[in-house]
Amino acid sequence: MQKQRIFISGVAGFLGSHLADAFLADGHEVIGIDNMIGGYMDNVPAGVEFHQVDCNDFAWLKEHLKGVDIVYHCAATAYEGLSVFSPHMITQNIVTASTAMISAAVANKCRRFVMCSSMARYGTNKIPFTEDLTPKPQDPYGIGKYMSELLLQNLADTHGMEWVVAVPHNIIGPRQKYDDPYRNVASIFINMMLQGRQPYIYGDGTQMRCFSFVSDDVAPLKQMAFDPECNRQVFNIGPDDEFITINDLAVVTARLLNFPLEIKYTKGRPQEVHLANCSADKARSLLAYNPKVKLEEGLQQMIDWIKARGVRPFKYHLELEIVNEKTPDTWSKRLF
Ligand SMILES: NC(=O)c1ccc[n+]([C@@H]2O[C@H](COP(=O)([O-])OP(=O)(O)OC[C@H]3O[C@@H](n4cnc5c(N)ncnc54)[C@H](O)[C@@H]3O)[C@@H](O)[C@H]2O)c1
Repeated sequence: MQKQRIFISGVAGFLGSHLADAFLADGHEVIGIDNMIGGYMDNVPAGVEFHQVDCNDFAWLKEHLKGVDIVYHCAATAYEGLSVFSPHMITQNIVTASTAMISAAVANKCRRFVMCSSMARYGTNKIPFTEDLTPKPQDPYGIGKYMSELLLQNLADTHGMEWVVAVPHNIIGPRQKYDDPYRNVASIFINMMLQGRQPYIYGDGTQMRCFSFVSDDVAPLKQMAFDPECNRQVFNIGPDDEFITINDLAVVTARLLNFPLEIKYTKGRPQEVHLANCSADKARSLLAYNPKVKLEEGLQQMIDWIKARGVRPFKYHLELEIVNEKTPDTWSKRLF
């Protein structure tokens, strides 16, 4: 394929940095931005033309998206639980930021825009979630993601830009933030246990999720940037097997770490969806999705990476806009 100029937002983050690696390996040119609200600077692959810029800086985007073929919008404050308590900050970095990205891409006649949405768009729909369901998001994060999708479809169709929506869910692997108290349950469990501390679980731990390992998801995510068949489509990205409770996730992690587990239960988080699981049928048939890394193997790779990079204290780096009796104690009392 001809060399493409690819612009990745959130390139210091988990998925953005892995995608940048994959595009660079294929010989493409990658420009990336990140405002460093999440992610790690050492995630940014050498070879990326990096700028520390906020997606809300429309003037900068309009200038720098000139000549870009493909925009991959990974940037987001991906905090589903926290969005119930800090909705202003979360939606600013999802809805407003996405709108600035889309508008700048349209203005510069970029060929395709790929948007990372979230399984949170499905909310309380029946599992397994399929792409044809009408979204029923239950929290500001899911609402913001779905609104961003609608804005993308509307603006792209109006102005003639190709669009694709990726719906990743519960992806784990090296480069995922593990010192953030507000998200990434597997990383939090590992970082807590490596500190010799018991993990907290919200509610009774019977919530269920399917986890996938990042190396299995990069190929289908990459295909969405180029494949003509993907234009104007929504794709779930993640497996539909190894459905596991959060209790069992803690048990498996503790076993891998040889940690004497005594889970600390704390009140449930408002609006948390109990059972969330996406169908992978469409990705299997159109993107040759075929995950190979089993959960235990993926967790072990994360453990190895966190050990090598160094266990870290959790940083309460984001403001709680709403503090009341529903706010998790782990956040209001900074229990991590
Ligand atoms: N990893 C998953 O399992 C998963 C699941 C569902 C959805 N997603 C979506 O996929 C995308 C990537 O997720 P991730 O796991 O890599 O998250 P991440 O937090 O690791 O990466 C996101 C990056 O975006 C940056 N960012 C946030 N707001 C920004 C802004 N206004 N301007 C510039 N940069 C900004 C952050 O600093 C961070 O480095 C997100 O849109 C997320 O909502 C991921």
